[in-house]
Formats: sequence, C-alpha cells, structure tokens
Amino acid sequence: MKADVLLGLQWGDEGKGKIVDVLTPHYDIVARFQGGPNAGHTLEFEGKHFVLRSIPSGIFQQGQVNVIGNGVVLDPVLFKEEAEELEKSGVALKQVLKISKKAHVILPTHRLLDAAYERLKGDAKIGTTGKGIGPTYTDKVSRDGVRVGDLLQNLDEAYAKAKRRHLALLKACGMEADIQEAEQRWLEAVEYLKQFELIDSEYYVNNSLQAGKRVLCEGAQGSLLDIDFGSYPFVTSSNTVCAGACTGLGLAPSRIGEVYGIFKAYCTRVGSGPFPTELFDETGSMIRNIGHEYGAVTGRERRCGWIDLVALRYTIMLNGVTQLIMMKSDVLDGMDVVKACDAYEVDGVLTHDVPFNMGGNVKPVFTELPGWKTDLTHITAEDQFPKAFVDYIHYLESRLGVPITIVSVGPDREQTIIRNNAHLS
Ligand code: GDP
Ligand code: IMO
Ligand code: MG
Repeated sequence: MKADVLLGLQWGDEGKGKIVDVLTPHYDIVARFQGGPNAGHTLEFEGKHFVLRSIPSGIFQQGQVNVIGNGVVLDPVLFKEEAEELEKSGVALKQVLKISKKAHVILPTHRLLDAAYERLKGDAKIGTTGKGIGPTYTDKVSRDGVRVGDLLQNLDEAYAKAKRRHLALLKACGMEADIQEAEQRWLEAVEYLKQFELIDSEYYVNNSLQAGKRVLCEGAQGSLLDIDFGSYPFVTSSNTVCAGACTGLGLAPSRIGEVYGIFKAYCTRVGSGPFPTELFDETGSMIRNIGHEYGAVTGRERRCGWIDLVALRYTIMLNGVTQLIMMKSDVLDGMDVVKACDAYEVDGVLTHDVPFNMGGNVKPVFTELPGWKTDLTHITAEDQFPKAFVDYIHYLESRLGVPITIVSVGPDREQTIIRNNAHLS
C-alpha cells in the first residue's frame, strides 16, 4: 500500500484537522509528520469542539491507530494537558496512540529561548507561537537535541546537558531564568508521557503498509510556512511540504500515494511576513468576522485576504498535489464579487511565479468573479451548489490544474461535500 498525505497549501489553519477527521474512516492509521504544539487543529462534531495540537486528528473516529512521528517536536507539558482532556472526554488514548522514540522533545528552556530570540529580533520578529518550536528544531539539526527515546534511558544526563547550554544562551541574551517550577511540571509530564507506547514508528508505519493497512499522513502548518520554500525567514522550522512526510515518518518517496492539498476559498496568515493579497479594508474585517479568523492556539487575529492562485500553483507543484480540498467557501456567501489573484506584478513586471523575495515590491493582479449570494452551509450534495459557485470551482480548477474533490461549507464534520470526482482510498 501507499500512504496518502494531507497538508495545508497556504499559511496554515486551512482546516486540516476537520478534514483528517472526515477522512479517517477510510484509513487504519493516522500519522502526524512534523510541527508540534504550534499547530491548532479544530474538530467539530455532534455539538462538540476540540482543538488538537500534537495529537493526530484521527483520534475521535473508531478503531484507528494514531502515530506521532519522528518529525514532530513534542512538549510533554502541553501533551499531558491535551491528552488528559481527551481521556476525560472518553478517548482511550493510551490504547490508540503511539509515539516515535525519535521525536524531539521541547524543554522548558526551549520556550524561553523562543521568547528571547523574538525579543532580540525587535520589529523584525517572526511572531512565533512561542512554543519553543524553532529552538527545538535548531537543537535537532545541531545534534544537541533530546529525543523521546532518551526519556527512557538517559534522561538526567541528556536534560542536564541541554539545560546548561540553554541557560548560558539565555544569559547571553540578557535573560536570567528561574525555571524551577516549569522544570518540575515538565518532569511530571515526562513521567506521564512514558505511560504511552513509545515505538520505532518508521518500522511500524512501513510494516503496516506492507501488511495492507491504509495510512493517512497529517501535516501541520502550511506550505508557505515551509522552512525551505515558505516566505523565509517568516516561516516555521520544519518541512511542511510533502517531502516532510517522508523524513518525518521514514517513508520512501515511492511510498506516497494521494496528496490532498487543502486551502481556504480565501487566504489567511498569523504572525509577521509577506502576504501579497492581504486586505486592510472592510472586506478583510468581514472575512475575519464571518470566518472567525482568530488563532486556535494563541487567539491572535488572523490577517485575511483574497485567494492567491500564484502561491497555490507553487505549493501544488512542490507537493505533487493530486486532489484539492476547498474550505470555508461559506464565509464568502454574502460577497457580491469574489476576487482571485492570478498573477503578480513584481517591480512592474507581470509574472506567474512566486519571486525569491515575496516581501518585495509584489502587487497582486486580481480576476473578479461574481459572488454566489447563497447560504452554502445547509447544502448536502454538489448538485445543490448554485451556478455561480460551480463557476468559481471550475475557474479555480482551470487555473490550478488539479480537481477540487472535497468542498467544506461549515466547521462541522457533516458540512462536507465529497464530490463525484473524489478518489478516496
Ligand atoms: P487547521 O490548523 O488547518 O486544522 O485549521 P484551524 O482549526 O486552525 O482553523 C480552521 C477553522 O475554520 C476552525 O475554527 C474550523 O472549525 C473552521 N472551519 C473548518 N472548515 C470550515 C468551513 O468550511 N467553514 C467554516 N465557516 N469554518 C470552517
Ligand atoms: P496549524 O497546523 C498558522 C506561524 C506562526 C509564525 C510562524 C513561526 O494550526 O495550521 P513557530 O511557532 O512555528 O516558530 O511560528 O509560523 N504558525 C502557524 N500559523 N497555523 C499554524 O499551524 C502555525 N504554526 C506556526 O504564527 O508566523
Ligand atoms: Mg490551526
């Protein structure tokens, strides 16, 4: 079998959590491959609302195994909070969740370093989620990290070494840190984490595929936040593109099957960095209010703008997307006109490519399409779509070159239209 991948094509918060939950019944295993508690994946069903940060979004369906892969960075304290809440709501988490021993661990000092580096950057700050993501991946790459497997074997030594180094770095940044209380909570959380099944997930996932099991890989963030191809330096610290599923789970490229690319019918971004189609007017505020565009983790206001087809074509290319999933179409229900950016003018020259410096003199060139002026939220099948909405879908498909096979018309699990052209495993 091949593993399918679902990932965000914009700057995150596309609705990955919702769709992973919807697709989970088609799979045996759901596996997160990168990111950490910077993610906030929202699921709504049966009147309930959950936000998942490190735990895969397949956790609420029945019978699937969920895996936290080696590419993820895990904060034991936030993991414990999230896991205990799920256990309280009746999820038998310890029976269905497995964690890679090779996942890197976020230490209390990583969070302090995240804050210190942001402060040093001043106005040029990235606007991180403050969860210690960058410093933890930095330690991984500089070969100084602590892995989940170390918690079982040489925790004291590994932790003491990292802490010493971090405290020296914090001192150099002018931050004297008293971490006693945070450290105590972290150590307690480590004991909790050790109750879970800690595995060599690369063997587990590959052996499962070999045995005919169906695997869905869940991405976090979005391709425009990718460390290599995103709007650097305003990005996260992992490979959010499809290749991240290979390194973050130990999958060979030939093992990748369908790639579901997910995007909003418009576009949002949290934190600093370029955003060519950003709206600073009434329309932007309207999208924010109707779409409830506030961060699932940080509560921060999300910046809103029109859909950017130049950027989407780029991320579709980088990921080898085979099926597109359009989210939050209903948020545009009241618009007279819907705009889509199909080209940029960079220093006065028309281009269809994302320039090296997305933050330079980049002006969006918009195409205008008629709005559908219909409430989509109660629609249950694609033959009920109003004509103007069908035209919008066809326009996007023709400009993006990949079929839109799933359309979301509301936050609930049920508000999902699987189109006839969908190819689900
Ligand atoms: P993720 O990080 O990609 O999982 O996305 P988030 O959960 O951070 O943000 C998506 C937000 O949009 C959540 O509040 C969802 O409940 C909500 N949502 C998802 N799909 C739809 C939709 O089709 N319409 C509307 N109105 N809201 C949606
Ligand atoms: P999900 O999985 C939206 C953004 C932050 C910041 C930049 C770097 O819910 O889509 P970091 O803490 O990762 O070092 O922050 O990336 N960011 C996200 N934006 N959705 C996310 O995750 C994000 N995770 C990180 O706002 O600009
Ligand atoms: Mg989110």
